[in-house]
Amino acid sequence: MFHKLLSQRPVILAPLEDVSDVVFRRLCRARGASLCVTEFVNVEGFLRGCRSAKRKITLAPDDTLTGIQIYGSDATRLAEAAHIAEQARPLFLDINCGCWVPKIAGRGAGAGWLREPAAMVAMAKLVVQSVSLPVTVKTRVGWGPESDMPIVDLARRLEDVGITAITLHCRTAIQGHHGEADWSWAMRAREVVSIPVLVNGDVRSAEDAQRALAETGCAGVMVGRRAMEHPWIFREARALLDDGVSLAPPTLEERIGLCKEHLVANVEARGELYGVRVTRRHLSGYLKGLVGAASLRQRLVVEDRLEGCLELLDGAMARATNRAHGRQ
Ligand SMILES: Cc1cc2nc3c(=O)[nH]c(=O)nc-3n(C[C@H](O)[C@H](O)[C@H](O)COP(=O)(O)O)c2cc1C
Repeated sequence: MFHKLLSQRPVILAPLEDVSDVVFRRLCRARGASLCVTEFVNVEGFLRGCRSAKRKITLAPDDTLTGIQIYGSDATRLAEAAHIAEQARPLFLDINCGCWVPKIAGRGAGAGWLREPAAMVAMAKLVVQSVSLPVTVKTRVGWGPESDMPIVDLARRLEDVGITAITLHCRTAIQGHHGEADWSWAMRAREVVSIPVLVNGDVRSAEDAQRALAETGCAGVMVGRRAMEHPWIFREARALLDDGVSLAPPTLEERIGLCKEHLVANVEARGELYGVRVTRRHLSGYLKGLVGAASLRQRLVVEDRLEGCLELLDGAMARATNRAHGRQ
């Protein structure tokens, strides 16, 4: 199943801490995401039985096309955690070798592995050997600077130890999220391996997805930040890639409808206060283009009650409908 999906130019929801949870994965899947990846799971917390790690690896019955991402700095602990995470029955396991955040990368986890490519390959081998599921790696082109990019050689060595696919966020670790992603690194890595390479970084529209695939020859694309504000990107990319069709942007009803759906689902999953608050970061993106969006946003950011948010959204919808019918 995983291999088949990888051969169909997948458009994948990126792992996003505090975002790509069970609720958001479902919303993105409903809008065409081919595959999803969980938020990253700290293997130390996971092996200690920490609650947040447990929540992150818990997959819903409809999460059949989801991979679990793990991170850590110790190869044996990663392998141990992978073995246990396998019991949650993800479609695949992904190893985070790309997180640049100093408290993670500075301790040798995430992109910290890029400072020691040989150790990273040995770690990947150990994880592959500890599970029967496909194992993928998400990484960056190198630690930095530009003169020292291990990714091409690394991709080959990761393939040799049994990694099933590589996602490449086409920036260095030092860049964090700054500067433009350089997709040409994905092409260079793709040229030396026969496993799928997935290109990531700055795919912000269906046209970007098409261009990234055409320019790199990669198997698929992974979308992070743009999905947070515009999860319709998945269906838009699918329509363009599969049928050459440019879809119309989502209607006002769809935009308001998604705000409400996301709020209700998050409140159900996380309780009212946290559920409303975690949904907020998505709402301005969802509401883009709506007349009066700025003042609606201002009122939504101070409303902690679900009912209050729904009333504000219904009110905005009613006003927009009246305007469309020429009524005041
Ligand atoms: C809020 C946020 C959380 C993220 N969490 C993770 C994570 O848990 N694991 C990971 O591999 N990358 C994580 N990333 C990086 C994204 O997966 C992705 O590689 C990066 O944002 C570049 O892709 P984009 O330009 O499509 O956003 C995160 C990024 C953001 C903005």
